[in-house]
Amino acid sequence: SLLNARSVLVRNRNFWCTIEKHGSASCFGTDQVRSKLEPTVAMDSPTASQCSFPDLRDVFPGCSSYEDLYNLSIKETDLFWGTLARMSLRWNRDFEHVSNCNMESGLFRWFLGGKLNVSVNCVDRHKEKDPDRVALIWEKDEPGQEERITYGQLYTMMNQVANVLKTHGVKKGDRVAIYMPACPLAVASMLACARIGAVHSVVFAGFSAEALASRINDAEATVVITADQGVRGGKLIELKKTVVAAVGNCPSVKAIFVAKRTGSLVVSSTLDVDLDEAMAKESGECEPAVMDSEDLLFMLYTSGSTGNPKGVVHSQAGYLLYASLTQRLVFDCKEGDIFGCVADIGWITGHSYVVYGPLANGVTTVLFESTPTYPDPGRYWETVQRLKINQFYAAPTAIRLLLKHGDEHVEKYDLGSLRTLGSVGEPINVEAWQWYNKVVGKEKCVVVDTWWQTETGGICISPRPSAPDAEIHPGMPMRPMYGIWPVIVGEKGEELKGNDVTGALCLKKPWPGMARTIYGAHSRFLETYYQPFRGFYFTGDGAIRHKNGYYQITGRMDDVINVTGHRLGTAEVENALGQHPSVAESAVVGYPCNDKGEGIYAYVTLKDGFLAGVKMETELRGIVRQKIAAYAVPDVIQICAGLPKTRSGKIMRRILRKVAADQTENLGDISTLADPAVVKDLIANHQTIK
Ligand code: WTA
Repeated sequence: SLLNARSVLVRNRNFWCTIEKHGSASCFGTDQVRSKLEPTVAMDSPTASQCSFPDLRDVFPGCSSYEDLYNLSIKETDLFWGTLARMSLRWNRDFEHVSNCNMESGLFRWFLGGKLNVSVNCVDRHKEKDPDRVALIWEKDEPGQEERITYGQLYTMMNQVANVLKTHGVKKGDRVAIYMPACPLAVASMLACARIGAVHSVVFAGFSAEALASRINDAEATVVITADQGVRGGKLIELKKTVVAAVGNCPSVKAIFVAKRTGSLVVSSTLDVDLDEAMAKESGECEPAVMDSEDLLFMLYTSGSTGNPKGVVHSQAGYLLYASLTQRLVFDCKEGDIFGCVADIGWITGHSYVVYGPLANGVTTVLFESTPTYPDPGRYWETVQRLKINQFYAAPTAIRLLLKHGDEHVEKYDLGSLRTLGSVGEPINVEAWQWYNKVVGKEKCVVVDTWWQTETGGICISPRPSAPDAEIHPGMPMRPMYGIWPVIVGEKGEELKGNDVTGALCLKKPWPGMARTIYGAHSRFLETYYQPFRGFYFTGDGAIRHKNGYYQITGRMDDVINVTGHRLGTAEVENALGQHPSVAESAVVGYPCNDKGEGIYAYVTLKDGFLAGVKMETELRGIVRQKIAAYAVPDVIQICAGLPKTRSGKIMRRILRKVAADQTENLGDISTLADPAVVKDLIANHQTIK
């Protein structure tokens, strides 16, 4: 009936809502019931959502189940997202159209004409209601030294950083690089950018100076925010030194803001600004910039199958809505909950589920600075007990590692606060899933394997939302999120209908959290995601749709590999190796590795006059560490006489993958190789992986 009605007036616990067909809806408090025709969202005057966690079945009458809501989200997309956007976000100005998207041309616009400020949504509205509510718990490297930051304190910090940026000339649209691990000032810095309309580019604080420099240069960032040093697993990380080494090659950078973490003396540069001192001079109030829904919020570099990492761009309103909605629905996160996502803020999981999603929902979010095994493999669980974490979100690589250390490290602790256990970043094998469910969750928690990507902005496939008793199968994300329409595409680009099919995972319908472009490279954006299969967003992953309609991810279909939950392009490693003077050619592939998900196997041919040996391998590893980061260093380097190539000169990676995986009995057709003898040499010198 909802779908046929032109407009309905709906009442739920806390507000009234008019929903009109084709996407317009207005919400207003029960004490303000006026004519339903009266506009309820005044232009240029902020509106506040009256209710942060409504049950969607109350919001959309006629929908009594997940299936109903899902069908509505697919059939009446604008109505669905328009209603939720008005209800969950505070707008300075209402939007005129919910969406204008085209999967063929790759142009996506959501909440057109709307104006808002993301930092107001993440901080101000919660601070107004309850300034003493804890926003952040900084779980520092040493256990038991956590610091709590309330919404009131976060408001002041964020505004002070925003004012510091303004004082140093940072303007709306300028790019700000942030090179910091998870800590309150990193969050305040991200929000400060949002406050003044600057675009942040957080660079994972494990990247090398060269990798940082290339990201700063691509974005033409005008300032960098960092800390003197980082502390992780009892070790010091030279953040400031790395930044100084990087900005030597970054002409766009005008200032380096340095926050104090350890207080140690570090390399100083003429660009240095002591962030703590500069903040102390600034006011704790900063007028929020009024941003268009589609202005850039941030960019985040991620690996692709070719070329340099690309700066995936997310915009304001759609991203925030999608991150916050998925955070509360997938994890069943309620007001007052303590949400513990242990990802680093340098990755998308940290952006959406440490910072933006939880803060937009006004919950308490944990900033985890340490490692899963510091000071011992009970660290996560001791932290859960001490902080009373309700939802815990981690990567399968960490879960597999902890499983190996034994149950005693978990059983020591009271994990009774936990309700949801999440997994992200790579497929979670059934054994690890079972251990997570039984040993950590005591079979009382909902375990959600969540599939998504930097480009999707938030979780797209996950067992929840669904009915509280809906079945969950180990090792697969199962069900599409509202608004997400997954399709499986065959080799010829045809959509494979029905169940029990395997192919390329694509998404058929736009959703608000989707990436808008690659910074400075829109044609690369189109080529990568929208041209492989016309009319679909191509994820780069393969998937199976099982007979019951559930989705299971089979892994990347391109030359991107997944190492300890980090996405890495094999081409990036090859580029780094190629910069060593000895290297003639290299080919890098992933191989299945129990602990890390995938291991990195590099085949290298040397120029004449260079000798293979331990010294050479050490140098090659060193150059990868120097050009990218420690996690990108190959586990195996096989120096070989030649690479298997077709007559047209294309490297046959299929063969290299099989040799790396020790599956040489069935190499398939090698008759098209220019020199089949190469394969014998590869097998003879194959290094078995420890
Ligand atoms: C992989 C991380 C299987 C996938 C949020 C994807 C997964 C890439 C899962 C994105 C999962 C992520 N099951 N594979 N639950 N989650 N992936 O951009 O290959 O760092 O394309 O985003 O990780 O990695 P990214």
